[in-house]
Amino acid sequence: PNIAVIAGGDSSEFVVSVKSGANVLKAIDTTKFNPWLVEMQGKNWEVFQDGEKIADIDKSDFSFQINNEKINFDFAYITIHGTPGEDGILQAYFELLKIPYSTCNVHSSSLTFNKWVCNNYLRNLGVLMANSLKLKKGDSVDANAIVEKLGLPIFVKPNAGGSSFGITKVKELEQVEEAVQKAWKESNEALIEQFIDGLEFTCGVVKIKGEKTVFPITEVLPKNEFFDFEAKYTPGAAEEITPARLPENLFKKCQQLTSEIYDLCECSGIVRIDFILKDNDFYFLEVNTTPGMTATSFIPQQIKAMGKTLQEIITQIIEDKLN
Ligand code: DAL
Ligand code: MG
Repeated sequence: PNIAVIAGGDSSEFVVSVKSGANVLKAIDTTKFNPWLVEMQGKNWEVFQDGEKIADIDKSDFSFQINNEKINFDFAYITIHGTPGEDGILQAYFELLKIPYSTCNVHSSSLTFNKWVCNNYLRNLGVLMANSLKLKKGDSVDANAIVEKLGLPIFVKPNAGGSSFGITKVKELEQVEEAVQKAWKESNEALIEQFIDGLEFTCGVVKIKGEKTVFPITEVLPKNEFFDFEAKYTPGAAEEITPARLPENLFKKCQQLTSEIYDLCECSGIVRIDFILKDNDFYFLEVNTTPGMTATSFIPQQIKAMGKTLQEIITQIIEDKLN
């Protein structure tokens, strides 16, 4: 079968996605599959081999031509973070073409990629999280009212985004306006969250043949003020410990919560859920439905800590969804 490993995308996370794509490409078992790297950016959808562009994708059926032969894809492994790979857009395209893909479906992707909507959905079902409010691009920013409601510090984030692009931890009233403007550069809406003073944990989960496997949790200790872009992607800028050094009851509680949220959001494929632990309670941060897959990302770390290889898991996901 021909497998498209799809990287790139139209958000600031492009650079991260290219690395995730390269790492997933390496992990495809070539004794079973023919992997091809497809890079998408805007209207350019291109097939690459050994770093060289070899063809353009025909968008009418997601195929390409090589040596006068037409190659159709049997499976799409999506490693685009952010739009259009994490928000349901690409998923809808593959649904229409009847090409199976690696991620959550259209509904689940679009639900989880909208932090405000997902938060309200999960909060209503009893999931614990910080209080927040949302500001649409162009809304007036009443810093006093925001601080009165949420206190200080607060986190100002793009409502739809990842890798901490556009996020500010705001400690002073005077910084609110600028932080909101920064978030609006990444997303049409800004999410403003109360600060939960705790430690960050993240937990991956996958469902294969209807059975969930919850990965070992990772404990994240950023050297910066929070787990920002630099802390995420600069070697040594954060300590990441897998499995997390948590007492067994808390370890299980976090894994259980991860599994429950996966089901509540009707997820599929590999998903990673982030939390803040404070006073023995896990506060939900977000669901990542195309989590980072770079060589040093959490999911590869967690799979390794489980004694499995990325290749095994990816092979199982593809084989499960191919049939
Ligand atoms: N959005 C990044 C890639 C992550 O969650 O891993
Ligand atoms: Mg994220």
